[in-house]
Amino acid sequence: MIEFSETELTAAVVDSFKDTPNPRAKFLLQELVKSLHHYVLKTELTFEEWELAIDFLTRTGQKCTPIRQEFILLSDVLGVSMLVDAVNHRDRGGATQTTVLGPFYVGEHKVMPHGTDISAALPGERLFVQSRVTDVQGKPLAGVAVDVWHADDSGHYDSQRANYLDEGASSRARFMTDADGRFFFRTILPFSYPVPTDGPVGELIGATRRPAMRPAHIHFLAVAPGYEPLVTHVFMAGDPNIECDVVFGVKHELIAKIEKRTDAAMPDGKPAGSSPWHLMTYEFRIKPGGGTAPKPLAAKATEAA
Ligand code: BEZ
Ligand code: FE
Repeated sequence: MIEFSETELTAAVVDSFKDTPNPRAKFLLQELVKSLHHYVLKTELTFEEWELAIDFLTRTGQKCTPIRQEFILLSDVLGVSMLVDAVNHRDRGGATQTTVLGPFYVGEHKVMPHGTDISAALPGERLFVQSRVTDVQGKPLAGVAVDVWHADDSGHYDSQRANYLDEGASSRARFMTDADGRFFFRTILPFSYPVPTDGPVGELIGATRRPAMRPAHIHFLAVAPGYEPLVTHVFMAGDPNIECDVVFGVKHELIAKIEKRTDAAMPDGKPAGSSPWHLMTYEFRIKPGGGTAPKPLAAKATEAA
């Protein structure tokens, strides 16, 4: 048959993939066709709407550069990234919950001594972060590489600055856990911030009257041989945007209460310098397994070139 009715078309397109050699690719493509066809039938999509969608996706692709991934942002704001995260991390087995990596992980974090102020040159309320990495039984893990990165008190990441390459990193570092699995550092309180809104995804957010904000958080990536890499954030309790994260990345277990302190010294015994200051205490549990640590966008672009 060469002519198909509305109801026969889906089966014909699904069947057209029947000789795909890779079984997983065949399954993924056939299911994609079924879902797309179902959407068109259910919504009775008009030509104008279809053209608008094609134009939107075209512009989303055109907005991408080696360090800007508008498609990932689209996936984030449609909740697809968190759904992929969810189906791949169903059984945490006591390990810390995961969330999105986000576009501001640039890799090549410099290893810094414990206690370093990673935002020394920046204004903002001072924060001491004390943490530990253990296995799921609570055994401290030494020598775990923990990358941390967060926005400043205006809600921007260092890598968003035009002069980032000359000025270098701030609010970004790597710490290696000590014999007790501990690491600690000084920084500033991060602020909530909008995701980039100067592209098609921003248009979508604006046109649908959605808030573009992410609640204040610090990103953590813990990597140790023999363990599943942990990609997560810790959110600041009380942030007004905690209930409306534009990328749906908040999980209750990842919200930390931040204590306001006035002691003259921080937990490492060194002077606080200013008062009040804030204390964040949070422990991470990682589970045995493999998998490679996520790569930053720029590294992927270099590999592809
Ligand atoms: C972030 O947390 O850095 C982020 C995550 C998803 C989209 C935009 C930003
Ligand atoms: Fe972030």
